[in-house]
Amino acid sequence: MDESAAPILEVASVTKRFGKFTAVNDVSFKIRDGEFFTLVGPSGSGKTTLLRILVGMEKPTTGELRLRGEIINDLPPNRRPTCMVFQSLALFPHMTVGKNVEFPLTIRGASESDRRTRAWELLKLLHLDPNRYYDKNVSQCSGGERQRVALARALAYDPEILFFDEPLSALDARLRKMLQKELKDIQRSTKKTFCYVTHSLEEAMVMSDRVAILRAGVIEQIGMPDEIYASPKNAFVAEFMGEVNLLDITALGGASATWDTGRKTVPLALPELPVPLEAGAKRKLLIRPESLRFLAAGEHAGNTVPVKILNEFSLGSRIQYHVEVCPGCTLTVERLREERTAAAAGVLGWELADSQVLES
Ligand SMILES: Nc1ncnc2c1ncn2[C@@H]1O[C@H](COP(=O)(O)OP(=O)(O)OP(=O)(O)O)[C@@H](O)[C@H]1O
Ligand SMILES: [Mg+2]
Repeated sequence: MDESAAPILEVASVTKRFGKFTAVNDVSFKIRDGEFFTLVGPSGSGKTTLLRILVGMEKPTTGELRLRGEIINDLPPNRRPTCMVFQSLALFPHMTVGKNVEFPLTIRGASESDRRTRAWELLKLLHLDPNRYYDKNVSQCSGGERQRVALARALAYDPEILFFDEPLSALDARLRKMLQKELKDIQRSTKKTFCYVTHSLEEAMVMSDRVAILRAGVIEQIGMPDEIYASPKNAFVAEFMGEVNLLDITALGGASATWDTGRKTVPLALPELPVPLEAGAKRKLLIRPESLRFLAAGEHAGNTVPVKILNEFSLGSRIQYHVEVCPGCTLTVERLREERTAAAAGVLGWELADSQVLES
């Protein structure tokens, strides 16, 4: 993706209210031409509402939408060069796969042979062998196959931007992973702009050039997946990245703090900060499971804490441990299988630079 690419769609201070409730709150961002852009957020954070505004199914209460610089607030969905793929696919169940894919071309008056050629190409692109699927009824297709048919039909519209609202959420984990990669490949090969919605940051990370994280109608952070992974802006974003440890800490001034586990208070040293925290400030300390390690006798680390191992789970070459600092307070640790002997001693440590101080 060309980072200097011009924005194709610009969202400027968009707010959407339903009565007194604000579902989308003063949101601004730009989607670049040819980009895979993903909106991530928990249930109710306003993802679908925002997407519906972007495709024109809903009008913003205030704010502007610009497509290649032109304001399109009042342009109805059917006059926009965009297309939406929904979670419920809205395929025509009584039609064949071929007729479903050709539908956009039929309404545009394309000839039968042109329609068939294009449908054939698109089915191949989506790994649905046209010899087998073209005449098959969609009601006889599996969930994953229907998902591909819906995508082929969306591509047949030849829109400038494709919008997706959690299109893979109904599929099993293996098929979802496979289709994530395929979607990314299709986006790359067609060079279309994709705007995707999911509640899974992991899914977003696999496919996206950039990700925006939404909380209660507000964008918390926007950036490339690696940037967000390396420097989450706050604990809310960090928590979205799967299993991380977030410790409740209170600053004591300087580089010291206490960790408030609920049962006991553990003294800790903090990483170097551009501006030291004032004594009494409450924050979260982020430590990734792979940054925690078990210390052998005589080994040192920036912080150490005695723990009891509650559970261990094999992740193949690595082992994930759930350890207890005190009753009700657990941490997740991930280590290589070879380090198993050190685990038995029950002393956990981490280097200060491997922890990050975050706002909630
Ligand atoms: N037409 C409406 N009238 C009133 N409230 C609405 C309407 N549409 C959405 N909302 C509210 O706006 C909020 C955001 O809804 P939205 O559907 O955008 O969430 P979402 O992020 O897509 O969630 P999910 O992951 O569950 O699909 C919710 O609290 C929802 O109840
Ligand atoms: Mg939704």
